[in-house]
Amino acid sequence: MKVVSPLIVALDFPTEEAALALLERLDPTLCRVKIGKELFTCAGPRLVERVVARGFQVFLDLKYHDIPNTVAAACDAAADLGVWMMNLHASGGRRMMEAAAERLARRGSRPLLIAVTILTSLGEEDLAEIGFLGGPAENVSRLARLTRDAGLDGVVCSPLEAAMLRADLGGEFRLITPGVRPGGAAVGDQKRVMTPRDALDAGASYLVVGRPITAAPEPLAALRTILDGIPG
Ligand code: C5P
Repeated sequence: MKVVSPLIVALDFPTEEAALALLERLDPTLCRVKIGKELFTCAGPRLVERVVARGFQVFLDLKYHDIPNTVAAACDAAADLGVWMMNLHASGGRRMMEAAAERLARRGSRPLLIAVTILTSLGEEDLAEIGFLGGPAENVSRLARLTRDAGLDGVVCSPLEAAMLRADLGGEFRLITPGVRPGGAAVGDQKRVMTPRDALDAGASYLVVGRPITAAPEPLAALRTILDGIPG
């Protein structure tokens, strides 16, 4: 099914029933969906298959980080579920990323593989404490370059980092940005947000949006309002 939208709706729900109820109210031609650790841990791989069977392209957000052989095998297993995109932690290193990319490349049609560079919850002091020199921006840049050089398709990043990474890494590399809020929407616990339009103008390829859609009284209407505000 062709998806005519850069929006990825975060299915941040504690139960399969809640996630499937939201899907009933979305349209797989107007968005993709993200399944993260909470929903995957409670509902498992069968839910991923059910979501795929309903026509939705799935970003499996499990952020793998382990030895190369284990991560490559996990990526292969995720690809068997039919996901559209999956991710790992760039700080697992070049060999881990290359092993995963090479394993997926053996498949006929392979899902996208992207990396998390530095979690946006980590500040300079947190980074120093775990032995990373420098501030978040320079660590993000270095790990994003390593991600590209290891053959991956893109990175998750803050919309505030998108322009820098787009300039640094060129047009093909995918930038996936959470922390997006339509003008006037509740920010919630997000600290540094951008509107969908500004994030796309800054170079984002896909936008992860959760609560502005999932907590809206009419999720599809909220989705359409966001789409109306961005260039088609
Ligand atoms: O509800 P909201 O739009 O804030 O949801 C954003 C989604 O993106 C959540 O699933 C959150 O875990 C994820 N995310 C994020 N910031 C990051 C990485 C992922 O908000 N740096």
